[in-house]
Amino acid sequence: MKSKTILILGGYGQVGTEAARLLLLESGADLLIAGRNRQKAEQTATALNRQFPGERVKGACCDAADRKSLEPLFREARLVLVCSSTAKHTHLIAETAISCGTDYMDIHFGAAVFNELKKMEPAIKKAGRCFITGGGFHPGLPALLIRYAAGFFDEILSARVAGLMNIDFSSYRAGESTQEEFVDELADYQGRYYKKGRWKKMNMLTGQGIIKAGFGKGYGNKYCAPFFLEELRSLPQLYPQLKDCGFFIAGFNRVTDYFIMPLVMLGHKILPVFLRPSLSRLLTGSMKKYSRPPYGYVLTCDAEGRKYGQQKKWSLRMEHQDPSFITAVPVVAFLKQYLSGETDQPGLWLQAMAAEPRRMIQDMGRMGLKMIIKESGK
Ligand SMILES: NC(=O)c1ccc[n+]([C@@H]2O[C@H](COP(=O)([O-])OP(=O)(O)OC[C@H]3O[C@@H](n4cnc5c(N)ncnc54)[C@H](OP(=O)(O)O)[C@@H]3O)[C@@H](O)[C@H]2O)c1
Repeated sequence: MKSKTILILGGYGQVGTEAARLLLLESGADLLIAGRNRQKAEQTATALNRQFPGERVKGACCDAADRKSLEPLFREARLVLVCSSTAKHTHLIAETAISCGTDYMDIHFGAAVFNELKKMEPAIKKAGRCFITGGGFHPGLPALLIRYAAGFFDEILSARVAGLMNIDFSSYRAGESTQEEFVDELADYQGRYYKKGRWKKMNMLTGQGIIKAGFGKGYGNKYCAPFFLEELRSLPQLYPQLKDCGFFIAGFNRVTDYFIMPLVMLGHKILPVFLRPSLSRLLTGSMKKYSRPPYGYVLTCDAEGRKYGQQKKWSLRMEHQDPSFITAVPVVAFLKQYLSGETDQPGLWLQAMAAEPRRMIQDMGRMGLKMIIKESGK
C-alpha cells in the first residue's frame, strides 16, 4: 500500500507552510515538514497539529545537500514536495527520490532545473516514478490557463497571459538562500514569445515583444516583457491554429527595472560566485525601497478564437494579496489530482501541462483564489 505521507522540503518556509496548511485542509495526507532547522520544523508541526486534529504532521531535520539526511525521510514518503530554495541541489534530490521510490514535485522556475530533470528522465521512467516540475503560480499556471481558455473555443487563435507581482516587503520573510536563488533564476531569463506562428526574441532596444496589459483596479495598465517558461513550448503543437501566445511579466518599479535589474544580471555574469549574495541584497533592497501599493499578485489571460464560426474573446483575471497563498493553491489543487491517481503516471511532467485544467480552476476558486471570467463576441 502506498504511504499517505508527503514530505515538504522547506515545509516551514513561506510557501511550504501555506502548502502544508492547505494539504491538511484539502487531502487526507500526513505530512513530514523538513528543513535544516529542526526546531522550526517541529514548532511548525506542533502549530499545524493544534489547528488540524489527528497528529498528522511531524517535523524533521535534513539538508538538501546531504543525501544521508534525506534518505530516511524520503523512504517514509510517497512524494517529496520541494518548496525549498534548493534548485542547485536538484540532481541530488531527484537521485535520492529515484533510489528511495519516492515521487517528486517542485515549484522552481529556472530552466536549469528542468534541464537537469530532463537528463534524468530515462532513470525516472525506469524507476516508475512520477516527477512534476514547474509547480506553483508562475511557472505552473500560464500554460494551464491557455489550455483552459482553449476549451471555450472550437479553435483558439491567440492567448496571452500577463503577470504582475508587487510584493509588500513589510511582510516578506524569504530567507537569504531564496533571495539568492531568485537572482540565479533571473539570470536564466529568456525573453521569448510566440508571434505569427514563430518563436521570437524580445528586443530591448526596439521594444519588440513588449506588450501593454491591463491588471484592473488599482494596478492599471503596465508594460510587460515576454518571459519564456518551459510549459509554453508545446502549446503551438497542441493547438495548431494558435498563432500568438506567451507569458508576459510586468516590472517591479522603475528604479529596479531600468537600473538595478540590468546591473544585477550583468553582475551575475561577471562577478565571482562569492559576491552573488550582494547582488540579491541590492535587488531586494531596491524592491523594498521603491515598490509602492497596491500590493498584490495578478494573472490575466486574454484569448481570441472561433466558436460556431463566430469570432470570440475570452478573458480571465485572478488576484491575491499573499504571494505564498497564490503559489500554494495551484500546488495543492494539482496534488489533489495526483493523490486521486489522475496525474501520477511515471515520467517527467510540468504541472501546467499535466493537470486537468477545468477541475484545477474549480478547486483553486473554491480554495479562495478570486477569479473573474468574461466571454464576448468580437
Ligand atoms: N512557482 C512559483 O509560482 C513560485 C512562487 C514563489 C516562490 N517559489 C519558489 O519557492 C521556493 C520557496 O520560496 P519561499 O518564499 O517559501 O522561501 P523561504 O520562506 O525562504 O523558504 C525556503 C525554505 O527552504 C529551506 N531550505 C533552504 N535551503 C535548504 C537546504 N539546503 N535543505 C533543506 N531546506 C532548505 C529553508 O529552511 P532552512 O534555511 O532553515 O533550511 C526554508 O524553509 C523558492 O525556491 C522560490 O523560488 C515559486
